[in-house]
Amino acid sequence: MQPQAHTELAAATAQLSAAGVGPARVEAELLLAFVLGRGRSGLLAGPTVSPEQAARFRGLVGRRATGVPLQHLTGSAPFRHLELAVGPGVFIPRPETELLVELAAGWLLPGATVVDLCAGSGAVALAVANEFAPARVIAVERSEPALRWLRRNAADRQAAGDRPVEVVAGDISDPKLLADLTGTVAAVLANPPYVAESLRDRLPPEVASDPDEALFAGPDGLALMSALIALAGRLLRPGGLLGIEHAEDQTPALHELLAAAGDWDRVAGRPDLTGRPRFSLAIRR
Ligand SMILES: C[S@@+](CC[C@H](N)C(=O)[O-])C[C@H]1O[C@@H](n2cnc3c(N)ncnc32)[C@H](O)[C@@H]1O
Repeated sequence: MQPQAHTELAAATAQLSAAGVGPARVEAELLLAFVLGRGRSGLLAGPTVSPEQAARFRGLVGRRATGVPLQHLTGSAPFRHLELAVGPGVFIPRPETELLVELAAGWLLPGATVVDLCAGSGAVALAVANEFAPARVIAVERSEPALRWLRRNAADRQAAGDRPVEVVAGDISDPKLLADLTGTVAAVLANPPYVAESLRDRLPPEVASDPDEALFAGPDGLALMSALIALAGRLLRPGGLLGIEHAEDQTPALHELLAAAGDWDRVAGRPDLTGRPRFSLAIRR
């Protein structure tokens, strides 16, 4: 009997739901759409599913039920207007980080130089290049596996016509990093590792697929923040913007670090779309 899309989806939804993976129906639809090579809305027409496609779909649903992230199964993650290639070795971009780009919009002007620190797949840098096309966008990343995904995404976006993003392999703690840009940058954006080690055993299974060095930053999650603030303070021109994503409970400690550095005005927290304080902005004095 020819497999039917609706019965495949119902079985997959039940399996994912029983495995605690969700939203089960949405994820089942995304996986079926991926197998059929069409958008999710293309499922509305009740497409035919070949036995081979059904077998592939069931295989992917089985892997998703064991906790493999959806994005590793489809090989891509949406971020603002882009679809980025992702897989093992690179942090999967999260929807909340999209707001970081929006918060910085006023600094991403045509003549600007913009730096994305801890760039991972390149989500922030590539979205900035895609939407704002400032003069230069530089993405800094330390991990070799992440750099491979970043270079691939940067090449893909350039081929699609976006402004090129310059990829720099480097450690944000390196005092000589980007020395030639000192005092010239309009915006430094960063979604650094900020998870406290003490939370390691309490993270959802999907997060376990992200590389350790993308997540953890010492006992309180703030281990990289001083280096980040010092580097941003050196790179930014007066009036330049530093935008950082961080954990909900880190705002006071992070603002103390910014105050102690002495380079910053208008230090302010910003909520994410659910109202949680997940971003901080500061202006280079
Ligand atoms: C939370 S991920 C964010 C990736 C990307 N910006 C995003 O939002 O999807 C943090 C990234 O920082 C990188 N990283 C960690 N420590 C670093 C360091 N000292 N210097 C440069 N990159 C670092 C990790 O490899 C990881 O790719």
